[in-house]
Amino acid sequence: MEISKKIQQLRTIINEHNYHYYVLDDPKISDDKYDILMRELQELESNYPELITIDSPTQRVGAEPLSIFTEIIHTIPMLSLNNAFSEQEVHDFAKRLQENLSTEAIEYIAEPKLDGLAISLRYENGILVTGATRGNGYQGENVTQNVKTIKNIPLRLRGKYPTILEVRGEVFMPKARFLKLNKQQEVKGEKLFANPRNAAAGSLRQLDANITATRHLMFYSYAIGTVSEINLPNTHSEILQQLQQWGLPIAKQNQVLTGINECLQYYRQILSQRDALPFEIDGVVYKVNNIEQQEILGFISKAPRWAIAHKFLAQEALTKLLAIKVQVGRTGAITPVAKLEPVNVGGVTVSHATLHNQDEINRKDIRANDTVIVRRAGDVIPEVVKVLVEKRSPDSKPFILPNKCPACDSEVIRVRGEAVARCTGGLICPAQRQQALQHFVSRQAMDIDGLGKQLIAQLVTNNLINNPADIYYLTHKQLAGLERMGDKSADNVMFAIEKSKNTTFARFLYALGIREVGESTANILADQFNNLDELKNATENKLKGIMGIGPVAAKNIVNFFQQPNNIEIIERLRTAGLNWPVSSLKNEQVLAGKTFVLTGILLQMTRNEAKANLQKLGAKVSSNISKKTDYLVAGEKAGSKLKKARNLGIKILKEADFIDIIK
Ligand code: IVH
Repeated sequence: MEISKKIQQLRTIINEHNYHYYVLDDPKISDDKYDILMRELQELESNYPELITIDSPTQRVGAEPLSIFTEIIHTIPMLSLNNAFSEQEVHDFAKRLQENLSTEAIEYIAEPKLDGLAISLRYENGILVTGATRGNGYQGENVTQNVKTIKNIPLRLRGKYPTILEVRGEVFMPKARFLKLNKQQEVKGEKLFANPRNAAAGSLRQLDANITATRHLMFYSYAIGTVSEINLPNTHSEILQQLQQWGLPIAKQNQVLTGINECLQYYRQILSQRDALPFEIDGVVYKVNNIEQQEILGFISKAPRWAIAHKFLAQEALTKLLAIKVQVGRTGAITPVAKLEPVNVGGVTVSHATLHNQDEINRKDIRANDTVIVRRAGDVIPEVVKVLVEKRSPDSKPFILPNKCPACDSEVIRVRGEAVARCTGGLICPAQRQQALQHFVSRQAMDIDGLGKQLIAQLVTNNLINNPADIYYLTHKQLAGLERMGDKSADNVMFAIEKSKNTTFARFLYALGIREVGESTANILADQFNNLDELKNATENKLKGIMGIGPVAAKNIVNFFQQPNNIEIIERLRTAGLNWPVSSLKNEQVLAGKTFVLTGILLQMTRNEAKANLQKLGAKVSSNISKKTDYLVAGEKAGSKLKKARNLGIKILKEADFIDIIK
């Protein structure tokens, strides 16, 4: 086939997959397969650079950094919305509409009010030509390069589109991305973002679009600007459907409703789902659905009369920072925490906020007795956003983390390049001990019911337990003799301790509290190793080679098992009777010495699961076919690898054969 045709075909296929993945939320191929298509296109384009077009799916990144953003004038101004903060204000809004339209039953479309920043995208002949921020509503910044890195924004429209189309919508950062970004910023000792909105704005307004690309922003459309020569539908909901058909993403929470009471119900429903939504919202928007009615209502100053934003209660509040305390975590991390005058933030009383670390305190210049703005977002720990410096007393002093652990007086050190300061006391530190014990008994770990925080604290102060193994040598008498404990409570705790002895390998590993070994890592380890001895003897290299185990975790695991103290605790736990079933399957390395290659789409499991299953049985999984390959597992739509395997006479397994083998 002619190269340009081949390239064109690949682009069409990739765009189609993008549409299914990003707009319809219904992917049609695996990530691996998609990557292969992209790589193929990239390769062809690098061999034939003259064939690259600006709307090619490869053209999202790689632009040269700008020195300044240019201005873009909005052909139709980007307006804002009037707000309602109470149900009464919403009823007032509806009443005005009913009077103006002389009708009771108004149809609305209710949409989440996305908490990001508004942008306008301009498509000419179906190709994304500019992306602009809202700016002052009339003139914004040209952020085209940045916008192109947002993967759910199509670079080219689908179907029969108008010559000119301007789409308005919100760019935002999903909550999970925001948390990840701040974690990375913290590790790098860089500025933390106060909330996903600031993170989205900061990420979009980067002169180097390659940075924007790493931030995983998202976009949802909610309105149109200029459109040429096409008959648009006469309701807003149908216009949104039309945008979706052209390839633009819209929020799936949008709903057409009749009457304002249904809108208020929608508000309550969305509010109850708010914390579980993958993105931050600060309210909902009600819009009159019928475009003719919208036209009758028109605009008042800078906002439409036909829409209103019903905002959630503020997530930020002003309060006094009473003191800065430091907490010592399970691994010795010293975290400064603000003790606040209790304040209601969006319906929840907040009396503490995390201050993260010394760098963050310095950056925001947070001091005891300051007046501060605190913010709560979903289930995230409240944070101090800002200090009102003008309200500070003249004798206030900057806060500096102590250089001795407040719990054990050991030295506190901060490793170069790390943002976190740590107590060096290890298990002699009562705070670390307390946290380690709490972790050990927690539900996901040994699940010892009834051994709560208070009881552990009592046991630690009375020197009855120092480490997890001591729990299993407690006597009924010791427990019953403690404050607020009696025979009955002691019975219950003894029973729970006894019960916890029958556990699983994964829970046990997680309970040990090895740094960087969370639940999922513990599961992987339990899957990969037949027993504790095998894991104890594993080298850093072997561990790093396991999918899902990073270099830091590998190092920590090896370190952990090198400490004689840890080995002794483990032995005492085993002697006390801790046990877990050993899977018989795992002991049989029936595929040792065999090399497998996986290709195509597997229907019963993911590629990674298949790989893990094979590795468990001792097989090696390689990504390329060679003479050394013993088996090729060929799923649906297998391509070049299947061909190559046939040519080399390699044994080919269908998915069903493969499952028979691993079972
Ligand atoms: S419609 C003419 N719909 O809220 C109406 N705006 O306070 C234009 N926003 O600047 C806006 N979600 O950044 C609309 N579903 C939604 C929205 C939404 C978030 C933002 C947008 C706008 C601001 C107005």
